Amino acid sequence: MQSVVVLGATGSVGVNTLDVLARHRDRFRVLALTAHGNHERLLEQCLTHRPDYAVMVQADAARKLEARLQDAGLPTRVLAGTDGLATVASLEEADIVMAAIVGAAGLLPTLAAVRAGKRVLLANKEALVMCGALFMRTVQESGAELLPIDSEHNAIFQCLPTAYRPGQALSGVRSITLTASGGPFRGWAADALEDVTPEQACQHPTWSMGRKISVDSATLMNKGLELIEAGWLFGVEPHRLRVVLHPESIVHSMVEFEDSSVIAQLGQPDMRTPIASGLAWPERLDAGVDSLDPVSMGALHFEAPDREAFPCLRLAETAMTAGGGMPAVLNAANEVAVADFLAGRAGFGDIPRAVEAALEAFDGAPAGDLENTLALDAEVRAWMDGTGGRGTERETGP
Ligand SMILES: NC(=O)c1ccc[n+]([C@@H]2O[C@H](COP(=O)([O-])OP(=O)(O)OC[C@H]3O[C@@H](n4cnc5c(N)ncnc54)[C@H](OP(=O)(O)O)[C@@H]3O)[C@@H](O)[C@H]2O)c1
Repeated sequence: MQSVVVLGATGSVGVNTLDVLARHRDRFRVLALTAHGNHERLLEQCLTHRPDYAVMVQADAARKLEARLQDAGLPTRVLAGTDGLATVASLEEADIVMAAIVGAAGLLPTLAAVRAGKRVLLANKEALVMCGALFMRTVQESGAELLPIDSEHNAIFQCLPTAYRPGQALSGVRSITLTASGGPFRGWAADALEDVTPEQACQHPTWSMGRKISVDSATLMNKGLELIEAGWLFGVEPHRLRVVLHPESIVHSMVEFEDSSVIAQLGQPDMRTPIASGLAWPERLDAGVDSLDPVSMGALHFEAPDREAFPCLRLAETAMTAGGGMPAVLNAANEVAVADFLAGRAGFGDIPRAVEAALEAFDGAPAGDLENTLALDAEVRAWMDGTGGRGTERETGP
């Protein structure tokens, strides 16, 4: 029996993880669940999965959850605040940690799981984007087993030899191609994108996901973050990483080898497949996902991304090539810009403009240790809150 901690249990990836775990109660036990403020959903999940621990980041939500769990007679221990996330991520009895918190908030708990040497199922791509070198070094030093859950990276991982583990040198690989659905605005011209609403942006044509990643998919920033993620996971230089639009979301990514063989992984656009793959690897588990019928799936299409209408992809590529602290700058600026858009404080077209302004303002930001990375992240957010994308120049250098 393996004990599983789900960080970000109330989100899209978290809910899908619990669905897979519930299908295999003979193999997995839920040790801890975490959320930010959604105590109602975490309560339901605790009643169903009966974890030993539940963490709510917001203190008042933690108090409400604790009271409701006591009323229900459940012995689940409730922890509050961000410290609780790192505590459950590194519990001695934890075998597997699903890192499914959204955004930079996932960095410290995910790193705690890595430092504790767990099998870490990585959905939280922002952690790797922010400080990839430090993250991958910590994986090597701790002996943690890092398995990618992002469907593209999980697909790439499945195309590689079974003995391969992220962070190891890849041999015989010429290039890696990430597929992208293109999001709800694929084929739209730049000026038509200015007035789209958060509701339109979150209507993803093939995947059902949280709101932040849905907007990232609509701007193509998600694919840019994934390029950076792939570079760190598989040790591949930027010029060997490609993006192709594939609106059916059936081919999840492909690896080209030196002999020009191309191996791709196919499947339904359902996160339960990569989640089950990470939970069981190198074995296989029923994920509860329908079989793929090649006849009924019809024709598959591939096209080049439009970097003019969707400049976020280009901006992410620029940050990836620049390296140092620039991916962390990109990530922080994007998180603020997307939050502004979702809250109705900014338009869709403001997202790339704000990110570009931040990249210019923080040009040359160096990579640092964890403390420096968190400080850079905070500095970019403060700059964005005061000025970024709203027209004022930053006065000091990084
Ligand atoms: N959704 C997908 O299909 C998918 C696919 C590939 C990769 N990913 C990646 O997986 C991660 C999660 O995505 P998602 O779509 O599942 O996100 P989501 O639906 O928005 O869920 C986010 C989860 O993180 C928690 N959370 C939010 N802010 C937090 C904070 N400051 N501190 C601690 N916990 C916090 C949320 O708790 P509350 O519910 O209480 O707010 C929720 O449990 C992202 O990094 C995303 O890029 C997602």
